[in-house]
Amino acid sequence: MKKNIINLGMGMALACSMIACQSQKNGITFEHQGDTLTVVHITNPSKYLLLPIQESSVEGKVKLDTGNPADVAMDVRLAVDSVEYFVPFELPAGAKEATVTIGKVPSKAVCWENIQLADTFDTSNTDYYRPVYHHTPLYGWMNDPNGMVYKDGEYHLYFQYNPYGSKWGNMHWGHSVSKDLIHWEHLKPAIARDTLGHIFSGSTVVDKNNTAGYGKDALIALYTSASDEHGQIQCMAYSTDNGRTYTKYEKNPVLTPFDGLKDFRDPKVFWYEPAQKWYMIVSADKEMRFYSSSNLKDWEYVSAFGKGYGIQPNQFECPDFIQLPVNGDPDNKKWVMIVNINPGCLFGGSATEYFVGDFDGKEFKCETKPEVTKWLDWGKDHYAAVCISNLEGREVAVPWMSNWQYANVTPIRQYRGANGLPRELSLYTKDGQTYMAANVVKEAQVLRKETRNVGNFEIKNEYGIDIFPANDGAYELEMDVIPGSAQVVGLELYNSKGEKSKIYLDMKAGKLVMDRTESGLIAFGEKSEPHALETHDRRKTNSINYKNDFALGTWAPLSLCEGKKFHLDIFVDKCSVEIFADGGRIAMTNLIFPTEPYNSIRFYSEGNAAKVENLNLYKLGL
Ligand code: FRU
Repeated sequence: MKKNIINLGMGMALACSMIACQSQKNGITFEHQGDTLTVVHITNPSKYLLLPIQESSVEGKVKLDTGNPADVAMDVRLAVDSVEYFVPFELPAGAKEATVTIGKVPSKAVCWENIQLADTFDTSNTDYYRPVYHHTPLYGWMNDPNGMVYKDGEYHLYFQYNPYGSKWGNMHWGHSVSKDLIHWEHLKPAIARDTLGHIFSGSTVVDKNNTAGYGKDALIALYTSASDEHGQIQCMAYSTDNGRTYTKYEKNPVLTPFDGLKDFRDPKVFWYEPAQKWYMIVSADKEMRFYSSSNLKDWEYVSAFGKGYGIQPNQFECPDFIQLPVNGDPDNKKWVMIVNINPGCLFGGSATEYFVGDFDGKEFKCETKPEVTKWLDWGKDHYAAVCISNLEGREVAVPWMSNWQYANVTPIRQYRGANGLPRELSLYTKDGQTYMAANVVKEAQVLRKETRNVGNFEIKNEYGIDIFPANDGAYELEMDVIPGSAQVVGLELYNSKGEKSKIYLDMKAGKLVMDRTESGLIAFGEKSEPHALETHDRRKTNSINYKNDFALGTWAPLSLCEGKKFHLDIFVDKCSVEIFADGGRIAMTNLIFPTEPYNSIRFYSEGNAAKVENLNLYKLGL
């Protein structure tokens, strides 16, 4: 047991405050210098120092002190009153001693009693809501997907990652790889927070022609370094070991804003064939800026697009820029700019919009008026969606499945943040407009472990079926819905507690709706002022505008679909529902927190009878 001599009496306490106060615990000595700094001396360090976390604590500053000016303090919510979980803090391998300094944590905090040395860290799942088949980090916080790239049979998914707690902070690029877009292997973080700041979002390209000089096929990552001191600046790093480790370019940054913009981030790089050059698109407050380069290091400003376009007010983030055939015609391609917007979206908080148009290497010309907003997803939990680079003949986007309004307070502990299923993008025309469909990738069919073919039936008022007897909340429902002259036709997924999520076609209103007002837990975090999040730093919030931001229905216009028959493909995974209607003409992604899995479905119609054809239920698993 650690004995903190600061508690031993007045005289001693005075001595402590003068000479610093020491206590010991199995190879760890804590030297408390008041409440502002504790120096932790470790002899024969094991692999990790396990740090006890309490999410409501203020962030302490934890630094592995090697005497190098490049040592960086991480922000860690060390437990002050009670321990909620642990995170591992890596110590130098093979060293005889290590010193860790911890600032801003009171000397009476319970963390000192609980800090431990360990050679292993148990990552077995402890979260009830952890998805079965969606990508999540093993532990810690995740937001945007970053630098997704395909190379030598592997898909790389880097992501905004905090390894030191399940709330936003300490941005690193976490890393997972997959051979099929569905089964992910967790690897060590690839790029760590450094003296230039957090490693914010960005992209990765395969340098096929060795333009940057790190070898043919080196992976080159462009990301934003963000700090109060240096602002938001674009940096570069390269990898010559298939994306496992990155070396930061010694002359970083490679790009700073010419006008001192505060919000200047999330570089997306692509090869533009006609100019034989790299282009970078960067979100710059309320617009996107294009830059070009021949070596990925020296960037020249080209043009900007977006002021006043789409939903207002608009903070542009996480851009992408892709070219796709219209209605599958390779001779008729259009450019699409993907823009992630926060806050102020259709259903509150964050969402993804896109603009279709033309690009001549100089300017992007959007084919619709500024006030036209097209949504890539019509749910509330689809954000920071960008595409995987270096895919031949297809564009696949992956979103983060949350919303900045409540991302930090979802009822999850060990990890926080999941990706939506990868979506294949395509352009189609409807009523003289070009839209982008986002359909679940065909690779997701490997998840189908058991099939129940229900077939066709008519819904006169009601039609009920069970899902799967031993269902753990991970399944897919696929069907064609024919509303006929019914005014409303839909289904309710529900459990024995009466919690339910409703998905229905409202033919009168011309809407596909998903209603999660009674889906299970609908309020979490502490009560807060309404819309605190719209005005404060959204990433550090502890609460949401209680019920209102979560308990709602989201909807999409049925006019995006062709006709009288609607194909619905619905994926449920513990705490999420993703709906793909008519091959992704409508995609809708929403989180739900039922306190037990939904195990029954009630189909219903209002007005007249409706029909369901080809209903298949699939139990899903990895
Ligand atoms: C979007 C975003 C990005 C930024 C990152 C920081 O969710 O705000 O603009 O790079 O998250 O984690």
